[in-house]
Amino acid sequence: MSRTVTTRTFRRMKAEGRKIVVLTAYDWMLARYLDAADVDAILVGDSAGQVFAGHRTTLPVTLDDMIYHARAVRRGAPDRFLIVDMPFLSFQVSPEETLRNAGRIMKETDAQAVKVEGGAALAETVERLTGCGIPVMGHLGLTPQSVHAFGGYGLRASEADEAERLRTDALALEGAGAFSLVLEKIPSSLASEVSLGLQIPTIGIGAGPGTDGQVLVTPDLLGMTPDFRPRFVRRYADLDEIVRAALARFAADVREGSFPGEEESYP
Ligand code: KIV
Repeated sequence: MSRTVTTRTFRRMKAEGRKIVVLTAYDWMLARYLDAADVDAILVGDSAGQVFAGHRTTLPVTLDDMIYHARAVRRGAPDRFLIVDMPFLSFQVSPEETLRNAGRIMKETDAQAVKVEGGAALAETVERLTGCGIPVMGHLGLTPQSVHAFGGYGLRASEADEAERLRTDALALEGAGAFSLVLEKIPSSLASEVSLGLQIPTIGIGAGPGTDGQVLVTPDLLGMTPDFRPRFVRRYADLDEIVRAALARFAADVREGSFPGEEESYP
């Protein structure tokens, strides 16, 4: 398949009212499934820190980690539109340092875009990247890299002042050249209003049905993170149960001597 999705496709899909489908991947195997599912874009999220590496937060994830994951994902989905998260402190220090880090992502992973968490304070950085030809996706609302500042992973922007700040941030990111925005865990009504007020598409996660597209952390929708059950995740499979049962059967077969059988052995 040729590379048909671009940042312009994102805008066109919004204009035409076609919902944008985004899912996360961290490795070659998952990327192959997403490619087969014909998603519009794959996000190599720094949620890798939690669902791949088992950290409590995304904060420990490094730029080298993200590049490693993105290269593996690219091999599994050679032609998909690929967005790579910039990890904590890889984009906050200065626009110049951010440019060097985003440049590494673009050069070393063959991604088409990077994602950064934060609002108006990042406008200069977003301008610097987009001015150098690096497409940027913004991320507002619950921005997990700020979990300690927020004091948890609760709903964001339910109070009027934070909602107003989010509206301003969204416009600032659009003005700085972001091609799209993730809106995470904010009230549906606010997400719909912000989406309607922007030219660029919004991709929601826990932001209701009014955004221009949806993203989920793929292991969540596959039921591989059984202890994480937020309201906004719909489970499409229970892989946790399936994997546990398969592994238990294997162990039992080995222990009772029924694996390998003759048909699984070389004469
Ligand atoms: O890291 C991630 O997977 C994300 C999505 C939840 C949007 O940022």
